[in-house]
Amino acid sequence: MVNKGFNYFMPTKLVFGDGVIYGLDELVHGKSLLIISGPFLYNNGTAQKVAEATKIGSVAFFHEIEPNPSCQTVDQAVMIARENKVDVVIGLGGGSAMDVSKMVSCLIDNEGSIFDYYSTGNRTLLPRKTQLICIPTTSGTGSEVTNIGVYTNNETHIKMPFASEFFWPDIALIDPHLTYTLPPHITASTGMDAFCHAIEAYWSVNSNPISDALSIEVIKNIFENIEMAVKEPNNVEARSKMSYASVIAGISFSQTKTTGIHAVSFPLTVDFGASHGLACSITLPAFIRFAYAGRKAKMDYLFSVLGFDSMDAFANRVETLMVDINLPTRLSALNVKESDLDHIVEVSMKAPLIHFTPGTMNEEVLYSLLKSIL
Ligand SMILES: [Fe+2]
Repeated sequence: MVNKGFNYFMPTKLVFGDGVIYGLDELVHGKSLLIISGPFLYNNGTAQKVAEATKIGSVAFFHEIEPNPSCQTVDQAVMIARENKVDVVIGLGGGSAMDVSKMVSCLIDNEGSIFDYYSTGNRTLLPRKTQLICIPTTSGTGSEVTNIGVYTNNETHIKMPFASEFFWPDIALIDPHLTYTLPPHITASTGMDAFCHAIEAYWSVNSNPISDALSIEVIKNIFENIEMAVKEPNNVEARSKMSYASVIAGISFSQTKTTGIHAVSFPLTVDFGASHGLACSITLPAFIRFAYAGRKAKMDYLFSVLGFDSMDAFANRVETLMVDINLPTRLSALNVKESDLDHIVEVSMKAPLIHFTPGTMNEEVLYSLLKSIL
């Protein structure tokens, strides 16, 4: 039942299906293309394949995207984009490449560096004229359908999200075929990142009836398909359903933002070298138990729709699933020690997202939650 008002805004055109990258020439509007990716997708020829499909004559590649992309990397890519007078940017890869493509496509039409706008920068981005297309090659981040990018300042080691109304990609092109070669550990961690997006959107204080419906659909699909996608990488149906779950989870949390799980993931990636998906999923079972207290009736509805008779049954199933796909559920797997917890709590509590978690969240509560999964 809808008992409070809400807004829903998702301006990105969605193109989903096996082989849709080969229709890119019908979708691009421009004469000079920049493809932003990590080195792997450049070295294995995927970036070039995508470039060819656009049929644009002038193509530049920036293929130095690292995990947890830095502001410095964004500025390097912007330099190449400006030199080549780029009017179409494609972000190809996981969340890192897509996040960088969002900021780069805006900075082509804005002066200065990312530091003028992000964090302590006080300038405001003006509208983007460059076309922005995001093409995910993992099933997890959902960045192709959000207006958020996450960047790390290499000098301060602070990782922070940045949102802009100009970050919504013009087109999100999801071709499940691109995920078929993902190794099992990445399929597992990125897939559980999508699970976190869905359940955080569901329990968020910002949730709305549409994001709720989408989140339930995502969680059901991930329960049914992630293990198959991890253990049988060539299972076309499981791969396709995970791509679908990932983008739908992205649409869901694009409206609500994420919550405590993602706030805690920031120090776990920056200071303990965990991948984003791992840093999120490792606290998932503990956060399910915590968030339940603040959202009882709503969570009970989710459990019953999915066929679980209690919160414990649901949380245990999530934990078993993670063990089955070789994901850790204890912080010690990331070499986190009790003496590190104060720092993790301090950094996490600075992320505004943490306050979208239902229930009372403060330093003491977060400390004991993390201690329970050391
Ligand atoms: Fe995430």
